[in-house]
Amino acid sequence: MSIIEIENLCKSYRVYQKKEGVWAGIRGLFHREYREVAAVRGVNLRVESGEFVAFLGPNGAGKTTTLKLLSGVITPTSGTVSVMGFVPWHRDDAYRRRFALVMGQKNQLWWDLPATDSFRLHQHIYNIPGAVFERTRDELTEMLDVRHLLGQPVRELSLGERMKMELIAALLHSPEMLFLDEPTIGLDVVAQHKIQQFLKHYQNQRRTTILLTSHYMKDIAALCKRVVVIANGSIHYDGSLAGIIDRFSGDKVVTLQLDERTDFASVAKLPGSVEIEPPRIKFRVPRDEVARVLGELLDRYQVTDVIVEDPPLEEVIASMFLEAAQQEPELVGAANGRPTR
Ligand SMILES: Nc1ncnc2c1ncn2[C@@H]1O[C@H](COP(=O)(O)OP(=O)(O)OP(=O)(O)O)[C@@H](O)[C@H]1O
Ligand SMILES: [Mg+2]
Repeated sequence: MSIIEIENLCKSYRVYQKKEGVWAGIRGLFHREYREVAAVRGVNLRVESGEFVAFLGPNGAGKTTTLKLLSGVITPTSGTVSVMGFVPWHRDDAYRRRFALVMGQKNQLWWDLPATDSFRLHQHIYNIPGAVFERTRDELTEMLDVRHLLGQPVRELSLGERMKMELIAALLHSPEMLFLDEPTIGLDVVAQHKIQQFLKHYQNQRRTTILLTSHYMKDIAALCKRVVVIANGSIHYDGSLAGIIDRFSGDKVVTLQLDERTDFASVAKLPGSVEIEPPRIKFRVPRDEVARVLGELLDRYQVTDVIVEDPPLEEVIASMFLEAAQQEPELVGAANGRPTR
C-alpha cells in the first residue's frame, strides 16, 4: 500500500452567479443561480513513503484544492483518498498528529504573539513531551537561523523570517507527511534558496514524505525528483522535470556562430531562424531533423562554433500549459438552487 492513494478524486465548488442589472438582482433574491466550478476532475495518484513530489500547474489548476483535500480541510465531491491509511476529511485526531500543512499565502501563527509562544501552543495542541519539544524546536531554529527572532511578535518579522517560523511550527510534532503550498512565494532569491536548503536537508534526514506546490522552477529543480503537472483539474504528466522536455518539446535550439563576413540578412531568412545577433544565429529545429539541417548549414556557411541544446524549460512548460488549456474547454455546469442563508 502506498502512503498516499488517490482515486478518481473530484471537487467542484458551487459559486453564486450574480447577474447584472437591477431586475436580475431582485430575481436573484428569490432564485439564486449557481455555477459549478470543477476544480479537481478525476485525479489518480500514488505517492510512496519518503518521496518529495512537486505539483506544477498554472493558476487555478487545482493544486491548492488537492492539498486541501489531502489534509482534510475540505471534502471531495467524489472519489477516494487514503493518506497513511486515513481518510483525511474524517479528521481523525490520529491523522492530525501525523501530517502538517503549510500555506505560503496564509499566516497560521498568532500575529501578535512572538513565535516562541505560538510554538508552545503547538506543543500543547499536539501533546508533545517537554524534552522532545525543546530539542526539536532548538534543532529547527538552529537550522533556520532564527533563534534571535523567537521573542519578536510575528507581525514584525519579514516575509522570509515569518515563513521560517511557519515551517518550524508545522514541524514541531515531527509529521511524517508534509504538504507545502507555495512555501517560497514572495521571497527573494537568497531566502528562497535558504528555504530550499533547509527542506532538502530536513527531508534527507527524516525521509518525510513531502508534496510541494511552487511556481518557481528553481524550487522544483532543487528538491523534487518527481513532478506531477496539473492543469484544468487533472494530471497531464507525472515524471522527472527533465522528462517534460522530452515529452513536450519536439525541438532543439541550434545556435551557430558564423564568420563575420557572412551575409546575415540572408541567413535570417532561412526557415527556423528565431534570433539573430551577428555573428550568432539561433534556429528552432525539429529534433529528428537536427542532423540534416546542421549538415546543410555547415556546408553552406563558414561556421566557427555550434551549440545544440534543449529549449528553456520555462518555455516548454508554458506551451504545455497552453496545450492543456486548449485540450479541455472549461467544464462548467449551471445549477439552480434556493437562496442560502
Ligand atoms: N473556495 C472556493 N470557492 C469557489 N471556487 C474555488 C474555491 N477555491 C478554489 N476555487 C476555484 O477552483 C479552481 C482551482 O483553484 P486552486 O486554488 O486549487 O488552484 P491552484 O492550482 O492552487 O492555483 P494557484 O497556482 O493560483 O494557487 C479555480 O478555478 C478557483 O477559482
Ligand atoms: Mg494555489
